[in-house]
Amino acid sequence: MKAIVLEKAGGPENLHLAEVQKPNIKKNEVLVAVKAISLNPADVKPKYNDEMLGMMYGKERPVILGWDIAGTVSEVGAEVSDFKLGDKVFGMVNFPGVGKAYAEFVAAPEAHLAKMPDHTSFEEAAATTLAALTALQILSGKINKGDRVLIQAGSGGVGHFAIQIAKSFGAYVITTSSAKNRDFVLSLGADEAIDYRTQNFEDVLSDIDFVLDTQGGKVLENSVKVLKNGGAVITTVGLDLPEEITALAAKENKSVSNILVHSSAEDMNTLKGMLENGAIKPNLYKVFDFQDMADAHREVEKGRTVGKVIVTLK
Ligand SMILES: NC(=O)c1ccc[n+]([C@@H]2O[C@H](COP(=O)([O-])OP(=O)(O)OC[C@H]3O[C@@H](n4cnc5c(N)ncnc54)[C@H](OP(=O)(O)O)[C@@H]3O)[C@@H](O)[C@H]2O)c1
Repeated sequence: MKAIVLEKAGGPENLHLAEVQKPNIKKNEVLVAVKAISLNPADVKPKYNDEMLGMMYGKERPVILGWDIAGTVSEVGAEVSDFKLGDKVFGMVNFPGVGKAYAEFVAAPEAHLAKMPDHTSFEEAAATTLAALTALQILSGKINKGDRVLIQAGSGGVGHFAIQIAKSFGAYVITTSSAKNRDFVLSLGADEAIDYRTQNFEDVLSDIDFVLDTQGGKVLENSVKVLKNGGAVITTVGLDLPEEITALAAKENKSVSNILVHSSAEDMNTLKGMLENGAIKPNLYKVFDFQDMADAHREVEKGRTVGKVIVTLK
């Protein structure tokens, strides 16, 4: 089968189309004939650093990157009960871990997949995976109707799902974006948008119940400041939280924590329901052909993605 492989650490120019062995599936896995893949900052950043690559993917070279797929089931493991040949499925495969998504065929545990909604395209389904799971896993159980919720970077992959999910939970949603993305974030249902390039959100906001942060650093610190007493911030950035930020939160009776998204069929099925009832809709920012994966990486590396960057296989 064809795959995009990374021979050694480096830039997008090190990503090559190659012929590799089709994966064998385990009893609890299905083989997915991939139709669309979505990309994340987590796909593109680690490839530059050999040590980081080793930590995330082990010693095996070349590496096949990626986690987010949509496609059709082409083989079914002996213990798989939820899927059959030909089913259209989507999911984030083996995260944290090695997903090997940039390939014509991916071996995926059934515990990481859901069936695609009937009226969703492969591109839209592939888009509704890691970023959407992150937003869902952060916001689930954290929001009461009417809460004032701040979503940092509402135009990004995580942020654009987070706005929609928080609205579907009944929140009053405030988000940060640049002026060029203002109409986009408002169209997703945000009640207020703050242009982060011309206005400091910490100067105009207070009494926030919950913040979903995707920026870290000073943005995370200021996110703690705008919380009301007893409020909470969850950030997607950094494995260790800076001590001055946890100390500030503790002093003010606020909570600050981080998360690492994890593969989950249960959460994928929740997202499936949200796609079906219209609570969420992914924004397909740019779509690339499989052989142009290096260009897709270059696009994500710009940090300007509005929604999701997608790669398709014919
Ligand atoms: N811990 C986890 O499990 C987990 C899961 C998912 C993602 N993450 C991390 O979370 C971060 C966000 O991921 P993502 O996929 O949402 O990224 P993304 O899609 O690449 O985000 C790009 C968007 O961020 C906006 N943006 C950039 N700087 C901003 C700022 N200071 N304030 C407001 N908006 C800003 C950009 O808009 P403009 O063009 O207008 O600047 C652009 O629309 C990344 O660092 C990623 O690695 C972690």
